[in-house]
Amino acid sequence: MKFFSEELTNVRYKFDDILGRTQVMQNVFKLIEQVAATNVTVLISGESGTGKELVAHSIHKRSSRAKKSFVAVNMGAISPELVISELFGHEKGAYTGAVSRKAGRFERANHGTLFMDEISTMDYRTQISLLRVLETNSVQPIGARNPIPIDVRVIGATNRELLDLVQQGNFREDLYYRFNVFSIHLPPLRARKDDIPLIANEYIQQFATRYKKKIKPLSAEISNLLYKYDWPGNVRELKNIIHRAVVLCEGREIIETYLPQRVLDEKKKDDSVLMTVKIGTTLEEAEKLIIQKTLDFARGNKQKTAQLLGISRKSLYNKIQKYTMNE
Ligand SMILES: Nc1ncnc2c1ncn2[C@@H]1O[C@H](COP(=O)(O)OP(=O)(O)O)[C@@H](O)[C@H]1O
Ligand SMILES: [Mg+2]
Repeated sequence: MKFFSEELTNVRYKFDDILGRTQVMQNVFKLIEQVAATNVTVLISGESGTGKELVAHSIHKRSSRAKKSFVAVNMGAISPELVISELFGHEKGAYTGAVSRKAGRFERANHGTLFMDEISTMDYRTQISLLRVLETNSVQPIGARNPIPIDVRVIGATNRELLDLVQQGNFREDLYYRFNVFSIHLPPLRARKDDIPLIANEYIQQFATRYKKKIKPLSAEISNLLYKYDWPGNVRELKNIIHRAVVLCEGREIIETYLPQRVLDEKKKDDSVLMTVKIGTTLEEAEKLIIQKTLDFARGNKQKTAQLLGISRKSLYNKIQKYTMNE
């Protein structure tokens, strides 16, 4: 649904696989474009499920390394004993059980991109080794005589505030600065709620196609319900809820029955939606904002919008025209 014409605002709704029409996401798209053209290390921060891996993928796909490998490694999922061999590899016979040579993740990502997830979980020893690799652009597999030169673009991700960990002495400051050359923050979904209908409807279409169903876009009622919920699991949770709803759906529309109880519980809460207007806003700007937000709330229904605003439909149409708003 568009309230301002696309030519005027230049809003991008989809950037590779990343959906978002809010200003914060427009900024993220811009940052991806800028950083993709370079080789610098990127740090992506944000709660779980906000799209960190999606962003890392997009950077890789848009870089000159696109045709080489994108290797992902979750630092939180590797035991401290194995981490060095996982990252840097080992030679045959380097230790008992090393029956053949094994290339580490860095070597496998050579000329491509290495996505290191949950970097905050790395222990001190690993942090030191990693810093050395990033500074020398070479890795030394366990048992190898000489380091191997590598050319890898590293993208790190964290769902914890790294600077706090630095202050607590749990993350090396030099490594933090090495990662933080360029950072991209993904805000939680509850801080960009205007993206919810777009993401929900896109995934309804995707899953409907997968399950060979025909399902209409969300009704205003269901949309409002999804809008009220706080999404602690962010886009991942929204995607999973839509997936489930599409699987359960027997008709042509997503109805309340197909939503989990925690989302339905939002109905019991206050029905009002708040908006904030800064001091210094002109009356004309405020009027425009109130109309836009009410239109938004009414999902573009002008009859309902006019009713909520206490004006006639004709007068609403005039104002929309005046402020060059679109349906
Ligand atoms: N902005 C978005 N648009 C579309 N899908 C998204 C978006 N953000 C996340 N997702 C989806 O949500 C899930 C979790 O995303 P992921 O990148 O793994 O999050 P994170 O790494 O931050 O935990 C994935 O299935 C991804 O496709
Ligand atoms: Mg992830």
